[in-house]
Amino acid sequence: MERQAIVEAFRAAFGSPPQVVVRAPGRVNLIGEHTDYNEGYVLPVAIDRYVWFAGTHRHDRLVRARALDFGAEIEFSLDDIQKDSRRPWANYLRGVAAVLQAAGQRLAGADLVYGGDVPREAGLSSSAAVEVAAMVFWQRLLRLPLEAVEIATLSRRAENEFVGVPTGIMDQFASACARRDHALFLDCRDLRYRLVPLRDDVAIVVCNSGVKRALASSEYEVRWRQCRAAVEALNHFGLRAQSLRDVTPAQLREVGSRMDPLLLKRARHVVTENQRVLDAVRSLEQGDLQQFGSLLNASHASLRDDYEVSCRELDVLVELAQQQPSVLGARMTGAGFGGCTVNLVRRECAEEFARVVAEGYQKALHLQAEVYVCQASDGALAGG
Ligand code: GLA
Repeated sequence: MERQAIVEAFRAAFGSPPQVVVRAPGRVNLIGEHTDYNEGYVLPVAIDRYVWFAGTHRHDRLVRARALDFGAEIEFSLDDIQKDSRRPWANYLRGVAAVLQAAGQRLAGADLVYGGDVPREAGLSSSAAVEVAAMVFWQRLLRLPLEAVEIATLSRRAENEFVGVPTGIMDQFASACARRDHALFLDCRDLRYRLVPLRDDVAIVVCNSGVKRALASSEYEVRWRQCRAAVEALNHFGLRAQSLRDVTPAQLREVGSRMDPLLLKRARHVVTENQRVLDAVRSLEQGDLQQFGSLLNASHASLRDDYEVSCRELDVLVELAQQQPSVLGARMTGAGFGGCTVNLVRRECAEEFARVVAEGYQKALHLQAEVYVCQASDGALAGG
């Protein structure tokens, strides 16, 4: 979707040009999965697919919004923001307004349209893109004094406190702060980050399994709770950990045999994944893409076997990818239970790769995979 399309959509809905047009990208995570809510490390990139907002200030307290992706209108008063149980997708917009006001920002009513081309429920953070785009929309419209990191943390709060899912900060942070041609190495404990340049001879290819499972959000919460329980158990055995971030693979090996085997598996994924992110950043910075790719493969095995958030479709896509000579590494990306894989592919072979994997997937499971060659893009507030 292009800027012109959202401007036209606004004009069609409200009869005048919009005062403000903004966009925020989706993201794909290269490595560091299910580590963010354990105060660990992540390495996402923003992708060249966006949620756009176009809108105009009103002189009352009403928000009138047209959601292009749902072909629906919603309306609410800023003085009474309730959760919408019939249209759960509308809660991202409502949540952002509620959180901004709770943080002391003075909002005014607006007429707006929003929508874009980030695939939904595919693990590419379309909801974080809505939250960040909505935040930036209010920021620009009302000149609110909000900086990029604050926009990311408030967007996450909308998801945690209003929508009610205990996600980490990765998605909103990437959508707000990522940089073109770079991956974003983020420490989710103190939100310090570093941009790591990507090489242009390697393409980031995303394969969408097309599978969406309702259990994704309930299982996400289960994992979140298991991680907390694992920290409690580890402290009980004499470690002093605030989160799994504080535990090393060696420490876990030492006390692991005394832990509940399921909690040990969950903890082992997070603890080894944190180490893999650190190693991955080092190999990327040293130009060792073979090593970087092997770490992606190891991440998938750990998500599949220890964290148990993969599924047959994702495993098939990863296996097909790993059989290609042009592939440096492949794994599931995002929360899991469906959604996408991320693949590091030699650029000149990206199209051939897409064709072979899509054909193999069709043959193995009679399902269609959509394949996107992604451009690492600027976050909504890159540099600001
Ligand atoms: C979802 C959440 C993120 C993160 C990933 C898993 O995308 O929104 O915060 O936990 O799952 O890495």
